[in-house]
Amino acid sequence: METKIYTRTQIPEAAAALAAGELVAFPTETVYGLGADATNEAAVKKVYQAKGRPSDNPLILHVADVAAVEAAVADFPDKARQLIKAFWPGSLTLIMTLKPNTFSKTVTGGLSTAAFRNPNNAATLALIKALGRPIVGPSANTSGKPSPTLAKHVYHDLKGKIAGILDDGPTGVGLESTVLDLSTETPVILRPGAVTKADIEAVIGSIENNQHHVAADEIPKAPGMKYKHYAPNAQVVIVPTPAEFQAALDWATAQHQPFGVLATDQQLAQATQVSAANQFSLGDTVETASRALFAGLRYFDLKPEIKLILAEGFPKTGLGVAYMNRLEKSAGQKYFSKDEWLMLYSNYTW
Ligand code: TXA
Ligand code: MG
Repeated sequence: METKIYTRTQIPEAAAALAAGELVAFPTETVYGLGADATNEAAVKKVYQAKGRPSDNPLILHVADVAAVEAAVADFPDKARQLIKAFWPGSLTLIMTLKPNTFSKTVTGGLSTAAFRNPNNAATLALIKALGRPIVGPSANTSGKPSPTLAKHVYHDLKGKIAGILDDGPTGVGLESTVLDLSTETPVILRPGAVTKADIEAVIGSIENNQHHVAADEIPKAPGMKYKHYAPNAQVVIVPTPAEFQAALDWATAQHQPFGVLATDQQLAQATQVSAANQFSLGDTVETASRALFAGLRYFDLKPEIKLILAEGFPKTGLGVAYMNRLEKSAGQKYFSKDEWLMLYSNYTW
């Protein structure tokens, strides 16, 4: 199958492909999604196939307006209305209990709830309106790989497997939406994103966090949490503080193998021993770093000689919570520590 690149002027064509049961990747303000008509079971099945996604991992329903949510949920909590007013369109996905027989098991993974999101991207809102039905949309990457923040990332992973990609340039936030479960008495954040716990609590009062690491045999609240995520080919090692950066660079240099550095311009300025081709800039703030993280991980995947990536950590506050959540997953929680590593891993081969 030839994968077409649609521009904003070709939204009717992209909507027609969706209506015909084809897959079309779409832009959002977070990452690119892999779209299918949520009411067409055969089309939704193709999403799992194209991504290689485990079938028990439910999909987010992307809607153009609140009416689509009202039509599908059994009980529309007041808290949902308040949050929708404050954050939609935007990076907050809300899980609510469905009316019976609304969406197929293929969409919900067999759960009685579903996740709803109203993305802040004009082209995609127009696409959903043109189709006239919600579209499912997991991130448009091969399962396990970093999420796509550019149309070319989608093309790299899914060319030949999907009908097209609606290209609207780079995404803004760069990390997937906050997922908030409203089906329980106290709302719970299942995945941190750009809408923070404090942002939500300012609107609806106290909520909980549930971002613990889920073991393979445990039944997780968000099924997606148990799978390997954001993993590039190289081992990612997090350098937790700017103070440790020089020590990490010295340690990696002493291993005599090429390595990549994913860091802010300030830290890259210290990396004089690393060629420009093995450096990827995260800009200079946690906002620019979040936007660039997945592109940086993908950049090093194109360089097979790179087996290790030193990546800069940020404090776990504000957007830093979501940034570190994704970075820790990509690193399998591996942190550089000056005192331990210089002793433990001299002559480490990776
Ligand atoms: O920013 C985003 O949310 C992007 C863009 C494309 O909208 N989408 C995205 O989808 O990240 P995906 O499928 O990669 O991640 C959705 C997460 C998964 O961890 C999934 O398990 C969880 O949300 N999820 C979906 N429906 C759920 C439900 N009913 N209950 C619990 N977790 C659910
Ligand atoms: Mg994903």
